[in-house]
Amino acid sequence: MSTVKIAIDGPAGAGKSTIAKEIAKKLGFTYIDTGAMYRAVALRAIESGIDTKDVKGVCDILDDIDIDIQHDTNGQVILLNGRDVTLDIRTPEVSKGASDVAVIPQVRMKLVELQRKLASNRNIIMDGRDIGTFVLPDADIKIFLTASVEERARRRYEEMKEKGYTCSFEDIKKDIKYRDENDSNRAFAPLRVADDAIILDTTGNDLEQSINTVQKLIKERLK
Ligand code: CDP
Repeated sequence: MSTVKIAIDGPAGAGKSTIAKEIAKKLGFTYIDTGAMYRAVALRAIESGIDTKDVKGVCDILDDIDIDIQHDTNGQVILLNGRDVTLDIRTPEVSKGASDVAVIPQVRMKLVELQRKLASNRNIIMDGRDIGTFVLPDADIKIFLTASVEERARRRYEEMKEKGYTCSFEDIKKDIKYRDENDSNRAFAPLRVADDAIILDTTGNDLEQSINTVQKLIKERLK
C-alpha cells in the first residue's frame, strides 16, 4: 500500500511544528521537523568557530556532519554526530544561523536527501519551508501556514519565555523578519507557496482552532 505524505510549509512562528506534532499524534503518522536539521548544521558550525555566513567554511565541515532523527515518547530527538542536541538547537543564535546555512545549496541537498529517505517508507507529516515545492512535490496534501509578523513574534516570545529563555519581544520580531527575508529571497528552494497548497492564515486563531481546521482539511483530502 502506498504511504501518505503531508507537507506543511510556512514562515517562522506560524505554528507549523505544534500543529504538525498534534496531527501526527492523532493520525499515528511520523512527524519530521526539517528545520531541526538546518539548526543542527548551524550548531555544528557555531561550535566549530565557523561563521554561519561563511559558505566555504560551512561546506568544508559538511562531510563531518552526521544528522539523524529518532522518535521517543516525547517526540522527535535530533542527533548530531550521535549527540542529542534537541534542546541545544533552540537558541536565538542557532535560529539565525540556521537561516544562514539554509541559503547554501550543498547544505540543502545533503538535508533534502535525508528528508526524502526518511519519508520514503512510512506515513509522514513533514514541516519546513520547501517541503511542498521541492522536497516532496508529490505530497498528498500541502498546507501553507502563515500569520502576521506581529502575531508570529508574540507566539515565539511566549514560547521562549515558557522555556526559560530571557529575550525581548523586539529582538524576536527582528529575528523573524530577518529569517522571513532570508528564507524568501534565497535563490535555491526558497520559502514560497506551492501552486497546489492550501493557504491557512492563523492570525487571530488559537491553537485549538488551527489544529481543528488542519485536521478537517486532511480528512476531506484523504476521503
Ligand atoms: O521553528 P521555526 O519556524 O522558527 O524555524 P525552523 O522550522 O526550525 O527552521 C529554522 C530555519 O531553517 C528557517 O528559518 C529556514 O531558514 C531553515 N529551513 C529551511 O530553509 N528549509 C526547511 N525545510 C526548514 C527550515
